[in-house]
Amino acid sequence: MQHTTLRPFPADFLWGAASAAYQVEGAWDADGKGPSVWDRFCKEPGRTFQGSNGDVAVDHYHRFADDIALMAEAGLTAYRFSVSWPRVLPEGRGAVNEAGLAFYEQLIDGLLAHGIRPVLTLYHWDLPQALQDAYQGWEDRRIIDDFEAYCVILFQRFGDRVKHWVSLNEQNYNLTNAYQLGTHPPAVQDRKRFFQANHHAFLANARVIAAFRRWVPDGRIGPSFAYSPAYPASASPSDMLAFENAEEFTNHWWLDPYCLGRYPRSALAWLREVGEAPDLLPGDLDLLASSRPDFIGVNYYQSLTFTENPPDGVTMQRINTSGQKGTTPASGVPGLYRTATNPHLATTNWDWAIDPTGLRIGLRRLASRYGLPILITENGLGEFDRLEDGDRVHDPYRIAYLRDHLTACRAAMSDGVDLLGYCVWSFTDILSWLNGYQKRYGLVYVNRDERDERDLRRVRKDSFFWYRDIIARNGADL
Ligand code: BG6
Repeated sequence: MQHTTLRPFPADFLWGAASAAYQVEGAWDADGKGPSVWDRFCKEPGRTFQGSNGDVAVDHYHRFADDIALMAEAGLTAYRFSVSWPRVLPEGRGAVNEAGLAFYEQLIDGLLAHGIRPVLTLYHWDLPQALQDAYQGWEDRRIIDDFEAYCVILFQRFGDRVKHWVSLNEQNYNLTNAYQLGTHPPAVQDRKRFFQANHHAFLANARVIAAFRRWVPDGRIGPSFAYSPAYPASASPSDMLAFENAEEFTNHWWLDPYCLGRYPRSALAWLREVGEAPDLLPGDLDLLASSRPDFIGVNYYQSLTFTENPPDGVTMQRINTSGQKGTTPASGVPGLYRTATNPHLATTNWDWAIDPTGLRIGLRRLASRYGLPILITENGLGEFDRLEDGDRVHDPYRIAYLRDHLTACRAAMSDGVDLLGYCVWSFTDILSWLNGYQKRYGLVYVNRDERDERDLRRVRKDSFFWYRDIIARNGADL
């Protein structure tokens, strides 16, 4: 579709930026917080880039007021952050840590005082270690009750002020790393356990949405999905079939249960054939079907291109976590699909394809298939940035990336997509889980690296000023 004019962003469009607790807060054991699985995992040798961890991260826990002031200066109208479950419930269940809740209360009230709407993510991967130890976390159905109880504490406490909620962040990406690649805790490589853990997460998501309706009836909630729309490597029927397989296994497998309350048919049939299907109990599918979200949260970074993969073909491979361009191997599931390089797209230094049109295509696919509004909960560019003399960071590559993706959003809205808002990933630089501090995403530079915490000073990048001007004109100057 080629529009002669693009639709303007609506007046109430959420202009946001995002973060996650483990990636920014630090204060990993302060004021009664319990350990999360990441607190332990990052300290095991060889798990992360140069052994980096979030013990201090960017010290947002102690500097949140200054960070909010910067958000206000940028003109943000929304800030997406996550609550650390073990900060609120050190054991994952049972006694509440009042100091943990107080931190989020101050954060939320500080945002609201500056006219910034909080978008609260209930779970961004930092599972309480106590629940992993007690029953292996997502592998056990007890997680459903515990997750619901934790979420209800937050609904009761903040539901009067927070109206935008994200249930689970990137269940797909997190559990793929945790149970297929072995690169997130608990570092397992077992597809049967992978699908079972996912099934419990779907049920937990549904239960929490049902509880949300009772406690925050005027709020909106949805999961955030790591969405990489699939492309076929060619128009050959075998590549088209591989592409269909990939769409079904890497996208519909999550989005269909969330939004339609059912698993995609061909994928489920395959998993039953190979003995990897999750065990479903009576009532499970009814629960899924009864809790449709209010929106789909989309975390978009790249499209992925697929080609056929024979039964003795490529298996799942770890991604590039060093920033050495061209080191990502082909990855796939034998008998289904494998990734291929898309010669039409440039890539980042971490080999992620830069594809704004892929965002437009993806948004359209989601809008047509699920008929729900969409909130872009993450989009951004992880790159090496350089702090220059006079406290300047020139990041024209990030400005170009954000501009092109926001333009794609406008095109998608003109195509009929109901887009609620857009959150840049990330507001400040963050700890990039496996990639250390050198893979920077922020609009605001944080003066630290893997080896040295330095002074953790905040420095506005060129992209900060650019985004401020875009927001000021409600996206009219893209
Ligand atoms: C998503 C996560 O996977 O993408 C974020 O929700 C993450 O937490 C972001 O930081 C970018 O990924 P990475 O691996 O480059 O940090």
